[in-house]
Amino acid sequence: MRPFDLTGRRIMITGGASGIGAATARLCAQLGATPIIADRQDAASLRDEILAAGGDAETVACDVTDRAAVARAVAASGRIDGLVACSGILPFEDWDSPDWDAAFARTSDVNVRGVLLCARAVLPGMIERRDGRIVLVSSVAARMGGLLSGPHYVASKGAINAVLKWLARRGAPHNVLVNGVAPGLTQTPMVAGQQANLAAIPVGRSAAPEEIAAPIAFLLSPAASYVCGLMMDVNGGVYMG
Ligand SMILES: NC(=O)c1ccc[n+]([C@@H]2O[C@H](COP(=O)([O-])OP(=O)(O)OC[C@H]3O[C@@H](n4cnc5c(N)ncnc54)[C@H](O)[C@@H]3O)[C@@H](O)[C@H]2O)c1
Repeated sequence: MRPFDLTGRRIMITGGASGIGAATARLCAQLGATPIIADRQDAASLRDEILAAGGDAETVACDVTDRAAVARAVAASGRIDGLVACSGILPFEDWDSPDWDAAFARTSDVNVRGVLLCARAVLPGMIERRDGRIVLVSSVAARMGGLLSGPHYVASKGAINAVLKWLARRGAPHNVLVNGVAPGLTQTPMVAGQQANLAAIPVGRSAAPEEIAAPIAFLLSPAASYVCGLMMDVNGGVYMG
């Protein structure tokens, strides 16, 4: 067994056009997989970069909050062996702001309902083949309240931690393993320009997206064949579970 090899695996990565999702797409391709980059942003340049580097990659346009669009994207993608549910938003409205209720609704819609729509769309094929991996992307914010985030984001990621267990129990009898990663502060467009207190991070720095992509790739790999229902903390020591 080559424990970290992803040769031949077709991995749909929502939010794959940017940040952690893009780093995951690059790494999955390096490990032999075909990342299917599913995003509402155009991901053609990332696909072309991966192809030029000798890897394989596909793109599919998809807003994860649009149930019909998710179904179309999954149907158009053929066999899907793995799903990385990485799409997410982090609106910064203060909860005293009149715009906060709309921010709460938007955040829940993308970060929770969008993840469930994608998981539901890929599960039947995985169950039929008795082979699948799903990796949800949560946040350290759900573990300890967050360094930058408001309560709407914390609530959405707390929901992901809960539904991870629900999905893991549903998939496990069919050899569909559902796990997650909960990143700490990671240098991506999501947090660009935000001032975080690095002294609150025991390792003293934020993560590069590649440092979150690697644990995600592990959870997609043969090496994680007996890991089920885990939310893996990858946060430089901010929260030690
Ligand atoms: N960056 C951090 O510090 C950090 C920390 C913890 C958790 N996270 C989580 O990691 C994940 C990836 O975030 P990132 O930091 O790479 O951010 P990012 O903004 O770089 O990437 C997010 C991607 O999600 C896509 N997206 C947003 N809404 C979408 C929708 N409705 N449909 C389809 N795609 C959509 C965006 O187009 C973008 O490509 C998110 O779930 C985020 O909450 C990030």
